[in-house]
Amino acid sequence: MMADFCPVPNPDVHRDFLQKVVDLLFKNVVFTTRRDKVLLWKTPEELQGEFDFTLPQAGDSQDKLLQIMKNTVKFSVKTGHPYFINQLFSGLDPYGLAGQWLTDALNASVYTYEVAPVFTLMEQHVIKEVCKMVGPQWSDGIFCPGGSFGNGTAMNLARFHKFPQAKLKGCNILPRMVVLASEECHYSTYKFAAFLGMGEDNVWPLKTDDVGQIVPEKVEEAIQAVLLEGAVPLMVVATLGTTVRGAFDPIHAIATICKKYEIWLHVDAAWGGGLLFSQKHRAKLNGIEAANSIVINPHKLLAVPQQCSMLLVTHPDILHRCHSRGAEYLFQKDKYYDASYDLGDRYLQCGRKCDVFKFWIMWRAKGSCGFAKHIDTLMDLAEYFEQQVNARPDFVLVSKRQYVNVCFWYLPRYLRGKLNISDYNAQLQKVAPQIKAVMVKHGSVMLNYQPLKTLPNFFRFVSQNSALTKKDADFILDHIAEIGDALFP
Ligand SMILES: Cc1ncc(COP(=O)(O)O)c(C=O)c1O
Repeated sequence: MMADFCPVPNPDVHRDFLQKVVDLLFKNVVFTTRRDKVLLWKTPEELQGEFDFTLPQAGDSQDKLLQIMKNTVKFSVKTGHPYFINQLFSGLDPYGLAGQWLTDALNASVYTYEVAPVFTLMEQHVIKEVCKMVGPQWSDGIFCPGGSFGNGTAMNLARFHKFPQAKLKGCNILPRMVVLASEECHYSTYKFAAFLGMGEDNVWPLKTDDVGQIVPEKVEEAIQAVLLEGAVPLMVVATLGTTVRGAFDPIHAIATICKKYEIWLHVDAAWGGGLLFSQKHRAKLNGIEAANSIVINPHKLLAVPQQCSMLLVTHPDILHRCHSRGAEYLFQKDKYYDASYDLGDRYLQCGRKCDVFKFWIMWRAKGSCGFAKHIDTLMDLAEYFEQQVNARPDFVLVSKRQYVNVCFWYLPRYLRGKLNISDYNAQLQKVAPQIKAVMVKHGSVMLNYQPLKTLPNFFRFVSQNSALTKKDADFILDHIAEIGDALFP
């Protein structure tokens, strides 16, 4: 029988179906164990052959839909699996998942108080609480669909702050602007410079040292160079927790320079910002309070389900002044309640998913102490992982660990102690991709690799899943070594 067309659940028709979907998720996704595979790898061509992507004229039956869903899960990556260590998100928090399910069932859109009363007040409350953890002069912010969008929004705010007329008159009346960012910054800075009409070439990379931090003297030199070219140094983007190496830029020193030249300082703490919760490691964020804007992604270090990202700002009311358009069908001037609670016009989006609830319910479930324990456990494991890398002859650390990121090479036997070989880097470049391909085809471990500046491909161990143990760390290193030995005898 074809499924019905009305978008309304009916207990007689849909209860059993929805229950079976939940059962399927419980069995094949939510309660994944180490014995399960992380993924069942198929090439795009194989997957096209094995998965039915067609869209029918007449709808499918519920039984068929369940079969399709089972297949979708079968061929999808289980990012909650302990050995999914590929990205800056992992784990599957049960409370976060419950929160996500709740907001999906309510299908909320957080633009007006009347449509999302609880979530509107909750957003304001959570933003205030996180701001308090940053510093006393902080109190405002918005949720964003990801850290990239938050970084881009901060660039738009910085430009509006310097040239408020840009909102009405556009780019044509503006001088050339330059954004200064670490050469190891997240690529979203470049994308949004292009998107905002400033141009990728006007993002100037700032030199980093051998652990990946901006060298403060280079900031002042770059500002002088921008001024010499007759351009406007608009903003500095510093990073707390760089994507690959997990480096922390020296914010105090950079902020002093920004103050001197009256330049907007944006801190991309998408990855490192979660450390606000850890008394033990909070000091890595020292200076963060001196920024003009900050991006923090609870969906990264804190393992809140995707997406959950916040942009915090110091300038009062700038979000409203920069973004508002006052659409009268949504933000009527004669509302039957205090319309200052309608947060939507402070955003660039119109309809907006509720991302706060899953974070808030996790915070309720664990308390700030629970988040702190989660972070401290991750940091301890990263320390252990780094020690093991240093202790083994078949592995070499890329640079000293500063955070959860441990960057390392696996060295084939013929490269150990052979730094003098002329094509050493070219040889090493080939190692990580081949080992990764074997792991993915086995479905055993997903671990990212990348080159960086002149450094050839290396692995990045980075876990946000505090259930990982030392035994897991040993397993991952042994597994890489075993594959490496077989591939590169
Ligand atoms: C430092 C940093 N900033 C920004 C981002 C982008 O965040 P999102 O993936 O939420 O857009 C990332 C992603 O890894 C990141 O590492």
